[in-house]
Amino acid sequence: MNYENLLYKTENGIATITVNRPDKLNALNKKTVEEIGSAIKLAETDSAVNAIIVTGAGPKSFVAGADISEFLGLTVEQGKALAQAGQNVFFAIENCTKPVVAAVNGFALGGGCELAMACHIRIASDNAKFGQPEVNLGLIAGYGGTQRLTQYIGKAKSMELHMTADMITAEQALQLGLVNYVTTPDALIAKCTELIEKIKTKSPKAVSGVIASINGFYKNGVDGFANEVNEFGKCFATEDFKEGTAAFLEKRKANFTGK
Ligand code: COA
Repeated sequence: MNYENLLYKTENGIATITVNRPDKLNALNKKTVEEIGSAIKLAETDSAVNAIIVTGAGPKSFVAGADISEFLGLTVEQGKALAQAGQNVFFAIENCTKPVVAAVNGFALGGGCELAMACHIRIASDNAKFGQPEVNLGLIAGYGGTQRLTQYIGKAKSMELHMTADMITAEQALQLGLVNYVTTPDALIAKCTELIEKIKTKSPKAVSGVIASINGFYKNGVDGFANEVNEFGKCFATEDFKEGTAAFLEKRKANFTGK
């Protein structure tokens, strides 16, 4: 698949989506956000894909935010529409039925931090920097940042980072629970792949159930426990459940099909 601002490749069941505007530190213009939405959809519906990695091109930046040059002259309504469009794409990432891992290879600022946070798991290189610097521009985060950063690191730290626009290092992000692992830039994709390879040995159906059930915790108006009951129940109708239990009882390795 050819995109204007993304690279898309699949290898060994992993679709890698690389935001590819390195001259602009991979800033998310409207087109790029749209393309991320369609690439996620493509990977989610491709039966040869088990998991997705999202990363940025070049050594310096994951994504340095929404493209500030597109903000000029927007009206209130246009501003709202921009945020809603971004949030819709990021919801599609968060609710993707396949695991989505952010390989954060540098600046993850504003919309970049928000993109990383929409992914299920974040692995950062030790040169990564996270932040929500929108107040520097007279703005606030609009792609879910005020909500997801608060979910990951708690209200007090989220307030501080959004209000001060401070950047934090990968190591600080690790301590705050914002990222799962920190590694060297050279080992970043290998670490993502290692984690994905482990997840790939599990039932894809059950992994989707984990995503839906954990996401239920954060959804307004959703009883997370009732949602879990529902997701748990759904497992019993899957081939993966039959295979997983049979394999255990027969003392062999399960061969999951994702059905
Ligand atoms: N939107 C549009 N362009 C951006 C951008 C963004 N969010 N972030 C970086 N760029 C562009 C710069 O304008 C510059 O383009 P140019 O070479 O055509 O002038 C290019 O990317 C390189 O950025 P530069 O600022 O020269 O790199 P740096 O190493 O000096 O600084 C940052 C890196 C990330 C600290 C700095 O680019 C920055 O603060 N970016 C904005 C971050 C932000 O506020 N994000 C939230 C947006 S809502």
